[in-house]
Amino acid sequence: MRAGVFDSGIGGLTVVKSLLEHKLFEEIIYYGDTARVPYGGKDKNTIIRYGIEAVEFFKNFEIDLLIVACNSVSAFALEEMQEVADYPVVGVVEAGVLATANKIKNKDSSILVIGTKATVASNAYDTGLKKRGYKNILSLPTPLFVPLVEEDIFEGEVLESVMRHYFKDISTPDAVILGCTHFPLIASSIGGYFENSPLLVHSGEAIVAQLESHLELSKRFETTKMHFFASDNPAFLKRVAQRWLSEQ
Ligand code: DGL
Repeated sequence: MRAGVFDSGIGGLTVVKSLLEHKLFEEIIYYGDTARVPYGGKDKNTIIRYGIEAVEFFKNFEIDLLIVACNSVSAFALEEMQEVADYPVVGVVEAGVLATANKIKNKDSSILVIGTKATVASNAYDTGLKKRGYKNILSLPTPLFVPLVEEDIFEGEVLESVMRHYFKDISTPDAVILGCTHFPLIASSIGGYFENSPLLVHSGEAIVAQLESHLELSKRFETTKMHFFASDNPAFLKRVAQRWLSEQ
């Protein structure tokens, strides 16, 4: 089984980490559009165009499945990508909604969605959660977390002050959807910020659960061959991959 994984840049590596931990694929081809990152502040049509171009990129390989490991692309461009691809294309937003619904049974629970401006503007999480009966959803763009993660700032004073900036008026939610693939790296800081340790929904774990249950991927591969491609500075992508994929 050979999967393509697409992200705007390096954030999708957190999804790759989950895929590797669960040994779901024999081969993973990762493509990060590092020349045009970030996508999170761009408008819908641009993100759709970039998504379709990513499908074009993967025509160079024979993949069985494409995983859109970017919330901003999953939120705006998934259907358009599915239309032009001749293999299944799955995205982290739908997976995140399913994972939340599997874990949070009380429909009155308060759910905080954090992500890029694009992901929040799309209302994709809100729409998916409301369809499943959840009423108490707050979506908040938190784009400053992206460059912090890219600077390897996963804890400490700077992150604390950005969290205070975004969360100061918010009461502790029952669950936080980490609606950006950069955010798992700061998950423990985000969890620690709120009292009562809210449930944290992680795009990588969510997509693994979706692949296992809905696409019935049950076979395990002892090793996964990784290939990394980037539209700019592939050496940077490889360096970050070495660091993030080996972190505990
Ligand atoms: N990884 C992207 C996401 O999940 C965020 C980075 C970007 O803005 O391109 O939305």
